[in-house]
Amino acid sequence: MIRSSGFPGCGARVGTLLAVSRFYLTTPIYYVNDVPHLGHAYTMVTADALARWHRLVGDEVFFLTGTDEHGLKVAQAAEANGMTPREWTDSTSRRFIEAWRELDISNDDFIRTTEERHYRTVQEFLGKIYDNGYIRLGTYRGLYCVGCEAYYTDDELDEGRICPVHLRPVEEIEEENYFFALSEFQQRLLEWYESSPSSVLPESKRNEAVGFIKGGLDDISITRTSIRWGVPVPWNEEHVFYVWYDALVNYLTAIGYGSDPARFDAWWPAVHHLIGKDIIRFHCVWWPAMCMAAGIAPPAHVLVHGWLLVSGEKMAKSRLNQIAPSDLAAQFGVDALRYHLLADTPLGADGDFSYEGMTGRYNADLANNLGNLLARVSAVVSSKCGGVGPPPPPDVSGRLASTAATVLAEAVEAWERYSARDALAAAWRLIRETNSELEATEPWKLPPGPQVDAVLGSALEALRIVALLCAPAMPSTSREIWRRLGMPDGIEACRLPGDARWGGYPGGLAVEKGPPLFPRRSA
Ligand code: ME8
Ligand code: MG
Repeated sequence: MIRSSGFPGCGARVGTLLAVSRFYLTTPIYYVNDVPHLGHAYTMVTADALARWHRLVGDEVFFLTGTDEHGLKVAQAAEANGMTPREWTDSTSRRFIEAWRELDISNDDFIRTTEERHYRTVQEFLGKIYDNGYIRLGTYRGLYCVGCEAYYTDDELDEGRICPVHLRPVEEIEEENYFFALSEFQQRLLEWYESSPSSVLPESKRNEAVGFIKGGLDDISITRTSIRWGVPVPWNEEHVFYVWYDALVNYLTAIGYGSDPARFDAWWPAVHHLIGKDIIRFHCVWWPAMCMAAGIAPPAHVLVHGWLLVSGEKMAKSRLNQIAPSDLAAQFGVDALRYHLLADTPLGADGDFSYEGMTGRYNADLANNLGNLLARVSAVVSSKCGGVGPPPPPDVSGRLASTAATVLAEAVEAWERYSARDALAAAWRLIRETNSELEATEPWKLPPGPQVDAVLGSALEALRIVALLCAPAMPSTSREIWRRLGMPDGIEACRLPGDARWGGYPGGLAVEKGPPLFPRRSA
């Protein structure tokens, strides 16, 4: 099968016999000194839904996340806690692994930058850039934010040399460093952006990246002698690589750069890096330039999402406004949390989180629409059809059949432009339409017979299609709907779009009347 997602470089690749469509998706690797909060969860759930969608359409998926464990901040936190950096990162990275397991994140690999495989790749990749003549020795004097692990220029800082992200003063640092010759890549980067219009989405973020480049690029210091907690520079062991220069390389480590060329060629450069807008410069300026310097193609796609705000402020450790995803999952359920994160915010825009907003959404979309639909259909199947679901009428021009077809096409199109929100909105149209069909025909008032069977058969089929369309966002809810409908095979075996076409519900299956999927919550 050859499928193209409409963006150059990301669709099909031709193997020797079969064409395989591959989807390589990454998230940022998170600093271990933070605890996993709702902001990170937003990235993870967005990525996970994309990965699950691509598996659902039959793509070969490699979904990578992990933790960023070097740098001054981590060394300082370890010391403050009376541990070695390694002991500290072993325990702190585990919190991320556990948080993602709890949220049903289906990553295929979890990379830690302290792993041996990563040291090897960093040394090989940066060694290559050094051999190619783009890394040179110099002295650096600069204003450094320990929180960002980055140098700033005066005009990037708030009044009083305050870091705009962490809202605390930067430090003045001077040391002998190796520099990456970023300034030599301005023209090549601009040409690359010119020739690959969809390399950064949404477009506003692409413009931001191009703006940085046009504003002029300075060489960047990429090594430190003042700290030891990092990957040693292979040609001068007095130095370790600066944490960002080590971290970005994780995307190559996990697919076998330097160790497994066939695997690397299969996955690179058709990658999708999903990131928050705080790290655009690193991913859209530095990283493609590093790739060019090492002689590999730049990443094909960077997808940039906005910030999840709490009362208008970015959630962050330095702001004490963090919300633990596990608290919300315990209160609302994992899938309700996932749904809320996906359905509320378009990719690229900032979202504002509030309990009121989440409760409202939950009651309207999950309790009243989806939950209520499943409850009333199974109740009427029980009372009017002896608990056995009738098959849907085969006529594909019926109201629900034609809505289902439109909705499926819309969902496919929405996922192809990475919009979980629009894909879910389409699925919810089918849910609302099915509820309204039930209200219009009131099968619970009719005597058992063909008319009731036709309405309920259609509603069961609509629910089956809804379960498929919701699977990337709410995997366990979809499995539960599937099970209650009595579907004999697991939903995991289904492939879209084929299995979401009208007529897949066979009828004659025992439908289960279970407890409410999403009990209403008081505001
Ligand atoms: O920057 N809203 O790690 P980090 C939305 N280690 N997303 C948020 C968020 C919020 N309030 N807060 C965090 C680093 N994120 C580096 C990355 S990659 C080679 C190295 C998410 O722990 C979002 O994805 O600060 C953001 O880009 C990322 O966490 C930053 O995580
Ligand atoms: Mg950060």
